[in-house]
Amino acid sequence: MEHQTRHFNGTTTVNEKGHLEIGGVDVLMLAKEYGTPLFVYDVELIRERSRGFKATFDKLGVTSQVAYASKAFSSVGMFQLIKEEGLSLDVVSSGELYTALAADFPVERIHFHGNNKSEHELRMALEHKVGCIVVDNFYELQLLERLCVEYNQQMEILIRVTPGIEAHTHDYILTGQEDSKFGFDLQNGQAESAMKMAISSSHLQPIGLHCHIGSQIFDTTGFVLAAQKIMGKLLEWKNAFDYEPAVLNLGGGFGIRYTDEDDPITPAEYVHEIVTEVINQSEKLGLTMPEIWIEPGRSLVGDAGTTLYTTGSTKEVPNVRKYVSVDGGMSDNLRPALYDAKYEAVIANRMNDKEQEKVSIAGKCCESGDMLIWDIELPEAAAGDILAVFCTGAYGYSMSNNYNRIPRPAVVFVENGEASLIVRRESYEDLVKLDVF
Ligand code: LLP
Repeated sequence: MEHQTRHFNGTTTVNEKGHLEIGGVDVLMLAKEYGTPLFVYDVELIRERSRGFKATFDKLGVTSQVAYASKAFSSVGMFQLIKEEGLSLDVVSSGELYTALAADFPVERIHFHGNNKSEHELRMALEHKVGCIVVDNFYELQLLERLCVEYNQQMEILIRVTPGIEAHTHDYILTGQEDSKFGFDLQNGQAESAMKMAISSSHLQPIGLHCHIGSQIFDTTGFVLAAQKIMGKLLEWKNAFDYEPAVLNLGGGFGIRYTDEDDPITPAEYVHEIVTEVINQSEKLGLTMPEIWIEPGRSLVGDAGTTLYTTGSTKEVPNVRKYVSVDGGMSDNLRPALYDAKYEAVIANRMNDKEQEKVSIAGKCCESGDMLIWDIELPEAAAGDILAVFCTGAYGYSMSNNYNRIPRPAVVFVENGEASLIVRRESYEDLVKLDVF
């Protein structure tokens, strides 16, 4: 595929030198200055996505909170950008909470998630007065109640429910079905018991319900079904014990385009369809329209991230395939090995080369499964080329690891022709930092 016909995300383009450029910065310059592998984030695109979600709610006249699901990529620099854009933040561990506090993120806009929050984590959430805690199970409900009594503190909570929806996605990233480790089941009465317990508490304020049906979802059917099931249940609860929620949090999961095989609708379209359904259901059932909260992760940062690698060895297996190896792999992108995830890539220093050959991109980890891309058409790669893999912004750096003691890459933000380092590359000293010797 020639670059002229190719669609790039955000500010990504090809400059007059025939190099890939992101945020007005030549990526070869980035590779030279910061080294590879390198995560490059297109800040303008993250801002555009953030504003897009908010604008859709505003257009519909619905009170909302858009919380960035920080597991997609958490770092102080990222949280500061999210703060600047006025979004809220979803954290799922004391580590993510600590990072948010280090970024000076407004605590009242932090939502604390997790299916096994420890007592320490709940104490941390209470001491720092996070905006709300999404309660996942009976153990947590009782523990939180006890701690609130001890601190003599009120806490707003959402009850996480599993609506019994199976979204069409990879099994490991599917969460809304009945047989899930997350949340209170809506059908079998657990959610209702949890809600009644929370209502009777003098310290917990159950402001609403939460559900997240899965991730990388391409159509709105699952979301609409989940909303219908929840609204139906809310009508029962209104009639039975006069409970109406102020907030309905419908989670994240909006799919993005990694390759031509993916055909997502725009983030704005997802929100529009889902919220319209809640408005219609509220009117039909005579329920008060709740505030709608969402938690996009991937759709805010996924296609804004590109990973730069330097190519090294190649291996030709006659009549089978040619392997081109890069200086990273499953250590900085676990998704191909874990989910069979597909990516597109280009040779960033030879964007105008017409000759193409079919190759497979191998990582450098000591494992045959460490393949980043099987079968991709690229110009003939030579050692020292810069390979850019697109759409690595979500669950790339955040799931990176030190397998084979490969240092984690650096991360840069680019915007308006300027680059800024937001996470420095791990050093050899960092690698032995925790070793006691
Ligand atoms: N809210 C909750 C409660 C979640 O569990 C998740 C993702 C999100 C929001 C954000 O979902 P998103 O908008 O990013 O799809 N590591 C996997 C994805 C795991 C998602 C876990 N939960 C991957 O690389 O595809």
